Amino acid sequence: MELLDGKYVSEKLKQEIAVEAAEVLAKIGRKPHLVAILVGNDGGSETYVASKMKNCEKVGFKSTLVRFTTDVTEAELLAKIDEINKDAEVDGLIVQLPLPNHISPEKITEQIDYRKDVDGFHPVNLGRMQRNLPCFIPATPYGITMMLQEYNIETSGKHCVVVGRSNIVGSPMSILMARNAHPGNCTVTICHSRTPDIKKFTLDADILIVAIGKKNFITADMVKPGAVIIDVGMNRETSETTKSGYKLFGDVDFENVAPISSWITPVPGGVGLMTIIGLLKNTLVSVKKEVYS
Ligand code: GUN
Repeated sequence: MELLDGKYVSEKLKQEIAVEAAEVLAKIGRKPHLVAILVGNDGGSETYVASKMKNCEKVGFKSTLVRFTTDVTEAELLAKIDEINKDAEVDGLIVQLPLPNHISPEKITEQIDYRKDVDGFHPVNLGRMQRNLPCFIPATPYGITMMLQEYNIETSGKHCVVVGRSNIVGSPMSILMARNAHPGNCTVTICHSRTPDIKKFTLDADILIVAIGKKNFITADMVKPGAVIIDVGMNRETSETTKSGYKLFGDVDFENVAPISSWITPVPGGVGLMTIIGLLKNTLVSVKKEVYS
């Protein structure tokens, strides 16, 4: 078993991004600029957004956090997005999910100018991704592909099983792995909450990508020996033994699955760190106008 080390890969890629950010500053006289909108105070969202902002500063980007309380109306949020869409000095705009129930995530996602949609959630970007056209690729699946590339994991002709069909991870991940690209060219199976006997599929996976949000969902008896395991789980549990007051668990029973896998991502220290890289890369692509002019 070998680790797919998100800390190592993300630090390496951040150095490369910082060099490019400095080049952008020299060329256009300002830093790449990411704006994040956060509604409410959900503990997980607070942590993730703070990490996104911190990493922007680290690589020489400007970052702006726009906060709303949970009683913000959908109309107010849509108006704010419009305002940011029009700001020529903003390259990327993300709205952290989930949103309160009275706000439609679909409406919010579609309001973001697809040319600033560095989360890659807008239907224009999703459609372009499916057709293998230049686009913003959702940050987590993008980060996973960079990790596979870094460790030269062969994907062509492999059976990739994606557990979870969310708009953020499972669904775009399945598209990327099936595309005629590298990484890609897999035979892809998507399993979800209505799949009977998920184990039947996971046992046949050469590459198993798990994004279902349930601690220890994948146990050793569900894994083919030698499989590549990508654990997207970010399950937070309160803990008295950590400084932050919580502990993070993946969707995979790491202790028992790791010994039979060929490669595996740890949690923490795996996919989560790569998600940030996906976001930073997309913001860089946006300021350099490499996808949309
Ligand atoms: N919530 C969980 N993951 C993400 C993400 O990648 N982007 C946004 N905007 N919200 C999230």
